Amino acid sequence: MDRRLQLFLLLSVSSAAAVPLSKAASGQRNRLLLISFDGFRWDYDQDVDTPHLDQLGKDGVRAKYITPPMLTMTSPSHFTTVSGRWVEDHEVVHNMMFDAKTNLKVPHRQTLTRSEWWDNGVLPLWITAQNQGLKTGSFYFPGGAANYSGQAVNRVVVEETRPANETEWKQNIDTVLSWFSEEDFHLVTLYFGEPDRVGHAKGPDHPDRKSMIRQIDRTIGYLREAIDRQHLSDSLNVILTSDHGMTTVKKRPQVEEIVLNKYLNLIQLASFEILDYGGFGILTPRPGREQDVFDALSKAPNLTVYKKNEFPENFHLAKSERLPSIVVVADLGFNLNSRLIVYVNKGDHGFHNGEMDMKTIFWALGPDFKKNFLSEPFDSIHIYPLMCKVLQIEPAPHNGSLSVTEKLLLHGGSQRNGVSVGLLLTLLCSLSRL
Ligand SMILES: *[C@@H]1O[C@H](CO)[C@@H](O)[C@H](O)[C@H]1NC(C)=O
Ligand SMILES: *[C@@H]1O[C@H](CO)[C@@H](O)[C@H](O)[C@H]1NC(C)=O
Ligand SMILES: *[C@@H]1O[C@H](CO)[C@@H](O)[C@H](O)[C@H]1NC(C)=O
Ligand SMILES: *[C@@H]1O[C@H](CO)[C@@H](O)[C@H](O)[C@H]1NC(C)=O
Ligand SMILES: [Zn+2]
Repeated sequence: MDRRLQLFLLLSVSSAAAVPLSKAASGQRNRLLLISFDGFRWDYDQDVDTPHLDQLGKDGVRAKYITPPMLTMTSPSHFTTVSGRWVEDHEVVHNMMFDAKTNLKVPHRQTLTRSEWWDNGVLPLWITAQNQGLKTGSFYFPGGAANYSGQAVNRVVVEETRPANETEWKQNIDTVLSWFSEEDFHLVTLYFGEPDRVGHAKGPDHPDRKSMIRQIDRTIGYLREAIDRQHLSDSLNVILTSDHGMTTVKKRPQVEEIVLNKYLNLIQLASFEILDYGGFGILTPRPGREQDVFDALSKAPNLTVYKKNEFPENFHLAKSERLPSIVVVADLGFNLNSRLIVYVNKGDHGFHNGEMDMKTIFWALGPDFKKNFLSEPFDSIHIYPLMCKVLQIEPAPHNGSLSVTEKLLLHGGSQRNGVSVGLLLTLLCSLSRL
């Protein structure tokens, strides 16, 4: 090998080593598919045979579990994942759009296309990526259908309310992968409404939940086949995660169910409420009655009542302007019923994010991720800077920390410098032998 060629190699290796990710040197950018299976508790694969998920852990990265933000609820948690911001900052504080002043309440499904609920000045990853020249898409993903500062995600499919159908799941995967392989998308987010629905309807311990996990496992197997078939395995990174866990709802006669109207006269004391929504409730006291509401609820068993301005710091909710001034979090498994027990769910979430039953999953696979790597638990807020790193874009201001998640990357953190110095030394040695 002549000296000029060696020098050229030296230069190209050192410049490649200085750029974080594998395809960067050749000017190509790896793509990212973010998948969420709603309500996938961290341990749902442990009592079911899941060969494809097991293989995912061997071929990629898995976290023991991850912790969602407080409010362990679909829209708040997903929006933290795609923005890297605490709920108090992004203000998507509930699945339902509401206005405590006008008593407006909009059901979750309709809220998905109401930009005024989602767009509060925090830009989600899709928009930040598009502003840096990337092409992005959202298939059923919460928040994907809204406009942000007047900008829409490049391609959006809004979630439909249909029962989980494995054939359709496969079609959705084919669709999303064709966006990457045929239309050069860089980032797509893909959402599935299970196993949340079956967890609510039947409870997390029901055999139907286990068969749903088998269906999800087969779908992951299909995804991997389809990635190979579409020749995407060298360029596509996949992150598989979820928004929260699930716990069994405690019922009579096992426990005395909570009926809040037994402790305070809701009509007299509150001008607005969202109760009967699982383990988490919000109330706006009538003028001057905040302390009365607080005192009355403090006497109720099996729940904790908070004044918004006295939230524990790690809730990261106190700054929210949307949240009413009183927030109630039930003890694990208790439902917050207002007047009657009309709530029929056998499983629920919305409880404290420190509870193990609220923890959820994280797997990642692809050219930029380590293999057979089991990560310690982390908070879901740190997924955002990881995604920006993989996409090689400048993150918007956020509350995550790349130092928590970059150890999942092959070329992340200090390892990268170690490798590049080692390569340089090797090449310098071979040069000096000439
Ligand atoms: C987003 O903006 C476009 C263009 O102004 C508008 O047609 C569309 O209805 C908006 N969508 C939502 C969900 O607000
Ligand atoms: C699932 O979806 C496919 C394709 O749309 C359809 O042909 C099939 O009948 C559906 N199966 C069920 C059980 O609904
Ligand atoms: C619920 O509260 C009652 C009354 O304080 C208490 O006896 C019971 O142990 C609590 N149940 C649970 C499961 O914490
Ligand atoms: C979260 O990030 C935003 C934007 O940088 C910042 O304004 C806010 O103070 C951060 N929150 C916390 C709790 O650090
Ligand atoms: Zn749910």
